[in-house]
Amino acid sequence: MVKTQVAIVGGGPAGLLLGQLLHKEGIDTLLLERRSADYVAGRIRAGVLEPGTVSVLEKAGVASRLHAEGLPHDGVEIGFRGHRHRIDLRSLTGRSVTVYGQTEVTRDLMDARATSGAPSVYEADDVTLLDVAGSEPVVRYRHRGEVHEVSCDFIAGCDGFHGVSRRTIPAAALSLYEREYPFGWLGVLADVPPPWHELIYANSDDGFALASMRSPTRVRCYVQCSLQDRVDQWSDARFWAEFRRRLGGEMAGRVPDVPSIEKSIAPLRSFVAEPLRFGRLFLAGDAAHIVPPTGAKGLNLAVSDVFYLSEALTEFYRAPSRADNVLDNYSVRALRRIWRAERFSWWMTRQLHRFAGNAFDEKMQQVELEHLFESRAAQTSMAENYVGLPL
Ligand code: APR
Ligand code: PHB
Repeated sequence: MVKTQVAIVGGGPAGLLLGQLLHKEGIDTLLLERRSADYVAGRIRAGVLEPGTVSVLEKAGVASRLHAEGLPHDGVEIGFRGHRHRIDLRSLTGRSVTVYGQTEVTRDLMDARATSGAPSVYEADDVTLLDVAGSEPVVRYRHRGEVHEVSCDFIAGCDGFHGVSRRTIPAAALSLYEREYPFGWLGVLADVPPPWHELIYANSDDGFALASMRSPTRVRCYVQCSLQDRVDQWSDARFWAEFRRRLGGEMAGRVPDVPSIEKSIAPLRSFVAEPLRFGRLFLAGDAAHIVPPTGAKGLNLAVSDVFYLSEALTEFYRAPSRADNVLDNYSVRALRRIWRAERFSWWMTRQLHRFAGNAFDEKMQQVELEHLFESRAAQTSMAENYVGLPL
């Protein structure tokens, strides 16, 4: 049977980055991904990197294009009732964020893995995890019609929310925490220079809108939409009209009608499964937790998880006698950061969206936002959460 030290299930940013960090430590990995490499490389996802994320990508040796092309942002704006209020991340925290698409991060990581020579199997079907509670787990999968088995020391479940890893753990061994939100985000990507300098998170009477960007010539924009909506009900003209209405003020007049190059709807969810370890199986990234995108934390949390996991595995291979402490410590460290990001993402979501009906809740939202605009302490708290703690 083929052997590897760490079998990585899932080739999104979590799985790829873990592979790269372990490769730097001389630890072998085999990466199994259900989709094709082109599919993974083409997915459009979020785009804001915390400074802690940038430093992990530097450590992994995949930050040169990010440094050349990423856009440093010293602030973000909150739109409310026709006015824009700037949260000065740099002056409040001494740090700033970098706008660089997850699609680009994924491409850089895929290139690095190809260069390292570490093996990957794309279009791996029916991945099954066996004996994860024992000391020699096995991963079985089918590739081009043939069944393969790989024996390993550890399995890293980096296979996203719908993956097989979390479902392999007996229900009694996991606690699940979940909240679904009664709306989604409709996102549009378009080639036009962004009329805004920094991201604008807008709370309007017609619902939330986010003005973001990917590069000096490409915007990424979102509007809150109904969970029943389908993409084909949203022509480009309808999207831009709605986006302008929600952005309001003079900025609305600067948003042109441009053809979209991608359009998709995503539901909003908060979710945590804990602990992140079951025997020799670890969960990381979206396999373990989901945040609503309002706080820009999804990718950043995936990066902090795999950074902590890479440290735990590296320590294990240096001193296997301390195994259990070291391995459990991953879950404890990662969950502390996960819950903090869950709280912040839930808070941002609650303050910025239209929820159906309760007048008291609407007042609370208004008072909370006014407090944010008036209180330096409230702005500092938001800014610290937005840029994230050092790892
Ligand atoms: N076998 C193998 N691979 C699988 C399986 C399976 N059974 N199920 C899912 N996968 C793959 C998916 O095809 C996907 O490529 O696992 C990968 C998981 O990648 P992501 O969903 O990108 O999750 P993650 O790497 O944790 O990255 C988190 O992605 O969704 C965003 O907001 C999230 O930005 C965050 C980031
Ligand atoms: C994005 O650019 O896609 C983006 C930015 C900030 C968010 C969410 C998404 O909070």
